[in-house]
Amino acid sequence: MPELIPRLRDALLAAGYTVDGVSDLLGTTAHAALGRNETTPGLRRTTGGSPLETLTRLWPLQATVTVEAVDRALPGMLDELCGLGILERSVGEVAARVDLRPYGTDTGDLWVLADLTPGLDGSPNRVGPDHVLGISPAATSLAELTVRADVPAALDLGTGCGVQSLHLAAHVDHVVATDVNRRALWLAGLNAQLNEVTIDLREGSFFEPVDGERFDLVVTNPPFVISPATGERLVYRDSGLPGDRAVEHIVRTLPRHLNPGGTGQVLANWMVLRDVPWEERLAGWTEGSGCDTWIVQREVLDPAQYVELWLKDAGLHGAGDYAERYDTWLSWMEDQGVEGVGFGWINLRRSGGRAQVSGDQARSFGDRAQSRSEEWRWEVEQPLGAEVAAHFDRVDLLRGLTDEALLSARLVLREDVVQETHGAAGAADPSRIVLRQQRGMRRARQVDTVEAALAGACDGDLTVGQVLAALEQILGPEDDDNDRLEGVRELVAEGFLGLG
Ligand SMILES: C[S@@+](CC[C@H](N)C(=O)[O-])C[C@H]1O[C@@H](n2cnc3c(N)ncnc32)[C@H](O)[C@@H]1O
Repeated sequence: MPELIPRLRDALLAAGYTVDGVSDLLGTTAHAALGRNETTPGLRRTTGGSPLETLTRLWPLQATVTVEAVDRALPGMLDELCGLGILERSVGEVAARVDLRPYGTDTGDLWVLADLTPGLDGSPNRVGPDHVLGISPAATSLAELTVRADVPAALDLGTGCGVQSLHLAAHVDHVVATDVNRRALWLAGLNAQLNEVTIDLREGSFFEPVDGERFDLVVTNPPFVISPATGERLVYRDSGLPGDRAVEHIVRTLPRHLNPGGTGQVLANWMVLRDVPWEERLAGWTEGSGCDTWIVQREVLDPAQYVELWLKDAGLHGAGDYAERYDTWLSWMEDQGVEGVGFGWINLRRSGGRAQVSGDQARSFGDRAQSRSEEWRWEVEQPLGAEVAAHFDRVDLLRGLTDEALLSARLVLREDVVQETHGAAGAADPSRIVLRQQRGMRRARQVDTVEAALAGACDGDLTVGQVLAALEQILGPEDDDNDRLEGVRELVAEGFLGLG
């Protein structure tokens, strides 16, 4: 008999157990209700006993189904699936012990096995210490941020059910995935088989399993929850280290595991401490790493919001000791001087000296790594991976560009940039001009009249020097040419202007 997992895959395909299949079966209302962890509308839509209905009841809806229905949907597999711990049978009924659901990606549907979603229909959402998350918003966010270039080797640190590795397998020859949780590695292994990809799974903490190895891409959605690390640990979110030490350790160690030109991407939480600018604190973690860094703070929660969020995530809201846990966690935050907790992305690229100009136009860049930290809470266009790659390419470009080279460059305004002018109704001149990108980071930048005119004139025909000279004729001489060139560099750095 062929192996179980390939037969399971065939059965899922035959049943049409895909993202669209399930969503069409449930219809808009039941699908949305399931998104709110309510199953009743979905159960009403899946009473016909077809294989697709059986699989949908069994997994997303977590209902029991009859043995006969399972035999129709997963012919000849029930005993093996029970033996493996995926299903469990009680007399004539079958229930799921782990979740299995389709997951839509840019390269087609995948299936993902993970632990069952807790908290359906108001049931307690407490999970065990070795709980393995399925597709979480954080997982999706990292997948969308990941640079999707074809590369030889990638590392997925803290793989969980293997979701990042499944994505990586589409564009990376050799994917290594690590975790401390054996149950996670077991599920990640099944997911690799079910999706017909190869993942090199290794057990161990942080970078221990890849000692001395280097990668072209390292991605991680680590256990980043900031707590005193004294109580019980949910391994999917708690590192066992206090505060943001786990993230700091990862960020400090990751550069040693990057090939030249390699990219590291960390989804993280960090402490925002009283009287310490968060940018400075994080910049300290990457200083001397030989990497360019781009850190984006997407959101900040105050300590109380943060503690509530994670106590609720652990299903402890309303528990007898809720107030005590809340108080202990909050007072620890106060003692540490935590004013807030930042959520965001830490992107690193080992600067490989890939300047796009050569000869006497190229500056020597040596180890002059560039670090950019910014707060950007506005909506961005996902997926953002290409934007991350483009950001670092621009850093390389600017590092190699002398002022003379910049003045002789023929820059082009990115085609999605629009200009907004604000001012009193009827006023001859606008009081504020904003250039706004419609795509990617959707950056907005306030510019002056010269910058706006320069941006408008950058169509690749004239050099920057020619455009600035022409503008000087019309608008008069500049106060400071260096400031103007710095402005142009910023427009390039933020992607408004580029080489054609
Ligand atoms: C937030 S989950 C992320 C899972 C998955 N990569 C994703 O993107 O959804 C964090 C993972 O890190 C693992 N982990 C916890 N401590 C770790 C450590 N010291 N070293 C490696 N992995 C660890 C957990 O078991 C868990 O699977």
